[in-house]
Amino acid sequence: MSAISYIEENKEQFLNELLELLRIPSVSADSKFAGDVRNAAEYLKERFKDLGTHVEICETAGYPIVYAEHIKDPNLPTVLVYGHYDVQPADPLELWDSPPFEPVVKNEKIYARGSADDKGQMYMHVKAYEALIKTDSLPCNVKFMIEGEEEVGSENLEIFVRGNKEKLAADVILISDTSILSNDTPSITVGLRGLSYLEVEVTGPNRDLHSGTYGGAVGNPINTLCQMIASLQNEKGEITIPGFYDKVEALSDEYREKMNQAPFDLDAYKKHLDIKAVKGEEGYTTIERTGIRPTLDVNGIWGGYIGEGAKTVLPSKAYAKISMRLVPNQDSKEITELFSNHFQSIAPVHVTVDVTPHHGGEPSVIPTDSVGYKAASKAMEKTWGKEPIPTREGGSIPIVALFQDVLGLDSILMGFGLNEDAIHSPNESYGLFNYYRGIETISHFYQFFTDMSKS
Ligand code: BES
Ligand code: MN
Ligand code: MN
Repeated sequence: MSAISYIEENKEQFLNELLELLRIPSVSADSKFAGDVRNAAEYLKERFKDLGTHVEICETAGYPIVYAEHIKDPNLPTVLVYGHYDVQPADPLELWDSPPFEPVVKNEKIYARGSADDKGQMYMHVKAYEALIKTDSLPCNVKFMIEGEEEVGSENLEIFVRGNKEKLAADVILISDTSILSNDTPSITVGLRGLSYLEVEVTGPNRDLHSGTYGGAVGNPINTLCQMIASLQNEKGEITIPGFYDKVEALSDEYREKMNQAPFDLDAYKKHLDIKAVKGEEGYTTIERTGIRPTLDVNGIWGGYIGEGAKTVLPSKAYAKISMRLVPNQDSKEITELFSNHFQSIAPVHVTVDVTPHHGGEPSVIPTDSVGYKAASKAMEKTWGKEPIPTREGGSIPIVALFQDVLGLDSILMGFGLNEDAIHSPNESYGLFNYYRGIETISHFYQFFTDMSKS
């Protein structure tokens, strides 16, 4: 039997196993779910065991890494698969049409937290591998490294990678944790943005004050924080932090033109988000604004009274979580420092400002002339009948830059998600089409990669 027939025959089983995994609320950010995160790792270990594959739970200072390997012959090429079994928190729960950890299949989609990011996409790799070994058609060696802390910064994975270079030796890294342009237009991600993330605390008077007694005479830290944040962008949508753009890679008109040839329907985009207009840096298209330009966004802002009714108060403190998406060749530590210095420098004397950096990560670009990229392209062409388009995506997978650095390996970002999957949002979903098409395409990748590595 061919691997493709095996996939066809085991569709239902493959789906049921994924649904089982999606029922485990492996939220890495919230310690309340610590046991569940571990259960997700155990679940994966058991599935590898079922297949008779060597598998280890590699403990770290945080959540474990599930490592599995199948070495056929050391002389054959080796593919290292990376994915994550942890998921984002499901909040706000009331906005879900069905409970986030009780997956439902509706309109040809699987609705659950983690269905697309990344359990559904990661599990396609386990099933593609199953199809290949069960039909005796795995052409090369495979290693799996599946972590449980991607959504919280992969700090322990970094330590694991640095300490296990030999164990992780491979010819290419294969990851499905990104998107395609649409179900009719396959694409391969060749760029990801980096990230600087900070929290700011602005303090005014030493306690909350009566806003009548003191209002007008004492600076309000929330008003001040809003003014400070507003000043970080000018009317052209450019970021005003001195030095912020100094290292930003300038791309040729030719490259930009090519990028903009990718199919993109602005009206559909706006309609999907219920917005009347897009907004971003002047002089760039939407594709460019998310693909090749850096940004600054407030992720959350709070302070003062937010309970029911009205309380007249001039608060003592105001807070915000601020992130910057970075592009090649910006450095996350450097940008974090530029932000901190600038934010302190613009603080008026009536407040004090504290800036606390969170985890960050570097951007990456993936060359399209490698054997890995070409094999992924061929695999997608085989299942879609169309050559995939290289795209740059706005999200971040900081570990990709680290793989390049520490292991000297390029990652092939062959994801199968869609922008409308609503990852990190309520009602996250993953298409059945995408799940099965992914499994098929991945199974082809191994053959192309092995054949093309020989020549
Ligand atoms: N899978 C996403 C990254 C992603 C999303 C890539 C969309 C391409 C398109 C990943 O799980 C993620 O959410 N990354 C975080 C960063 C991380 C350091 C928490 C992100 O991009 O916000
Ligand atoms: Mn992900
Ligand atoms: Mn994510």
